Amino acid sequence: MNNSLKGLTFLVTGIIDSGSLALSIAKQIRSEGGDVICTGLGKTKYHENLSEKAISYLEKSYESFSKTIEEELGKETMTLPLDVTLDKSIEEVADTLEAKSIQLNGFIHSIAMDKSIKSGMVVKPLLQITKEEFFQAMEVSAFSIIPLTKALLDKKVLQNNSSILALSYIGAEKIVQHPYKNIGIAKAALERIVKELAFELGKSHSMRVNAIRFSPYTGSKAGSAIQGLQEAVDFCDSHSPLGNARPEDIALESTYLLQPNLRVTGEIRNVDGGYHIRG
Ligand SMILES: NC(=O)c1ccc[n+]([C@@H]2O[C@H](COP(=O)([O-])OP(=O)(O)OC[C@H]3O[C@@H](n4cnc5c(N)ncnc54)[C@H](O)[C@@H]3O)[C@@H](O)[C@H]2O)c1
Repeated sequence: MNNSLKGLTFLVTGIIDSGSLALSIAKQIRSEGGDVICTGLGKTKYHENLSEKAISYLEKSYESFSKTIEEELGKETMTLPLDVTLDKSIEEVADTLEAKSIQLNGFIHSIAMDKSIKSGMVVKPLLQITKEEFFQAMEVSAFSIIPLTKALLDKKVLQNNSSILALSYIGAEKIVQHPYKNIGIAKAALERIVKELAFELGKSHSMRVNAIRFSPYTGSKAGSAIQGLQEAVDFCDSHSPLGNARPEDIALESTYLLQPNLRVTGEIRNVDGGYHIRG
């Protein structure tokens, strides 16, 4: 067993079921001697005026998250609800960790949402995206890494020399085989935020901030909702030198980047079987 993360603790966001990429990363952290605390989207006391549909969605999401953690990581794993659209929910996560004297050595941002993408629906052209859809995708999928980092830093939960890692996609930069319109713009912002934070936090806290672009993957809830993603999976698999990367591959690259004392920051890594080198 590789013990490169022995004694280190990481917050892992974005697990909802056994197909979540963040789950593969959490398992790899464990297998390298690290510990994980997991957050899942769920209803909190800060949600107000929710419709029945929204309540049911949040409750089902948290139920699926809790069941997955129990089955895949064990019921002793610490879990917390988190909705990154609510400042108070983010603060509560930081407060809870502070109250338990937990010192984090980093966290994984594996969160994305775009309400203009719905399972079985054609993705809207950019000209039809509403202001609300644009800013919601931006808030959840990009901006959220900033208040989460700030809350953990303010409570002195996130230690100097920590490592922050975000998950991205080639659609942040390029027009891909399938429509990745509104969310592509949010991913571009996420990657730019990663670089800006890498500079600020490297200087101030010796922290590293990196992102990984992964192959298209239909095994997760987010991936399975994207129109035409299966065709993109097949196309990228046959056009990349090594074939598509698997969840194990992103997990291994993640734990490499989470290692303490690594002088790698502001990187946007490609874990995609080499697909990105194609013209
Ligand atoms: N599936 C792919 O093809 C693919 C490829 C490259 C990168 N990614 C990225 O990997 C990350 C994880 O995606 P995944 O494919 O594992 O899908 P997933 O559905 O398992 O993960 C997305 C997570 O975002 C969470 N989330 C959504 N809104 C939230 C909110 N308001 N607050 C807190 N959490 C919220 C969901 O609950 C879910 O756990 C995302 O950033 C995604 O864009 C996915």
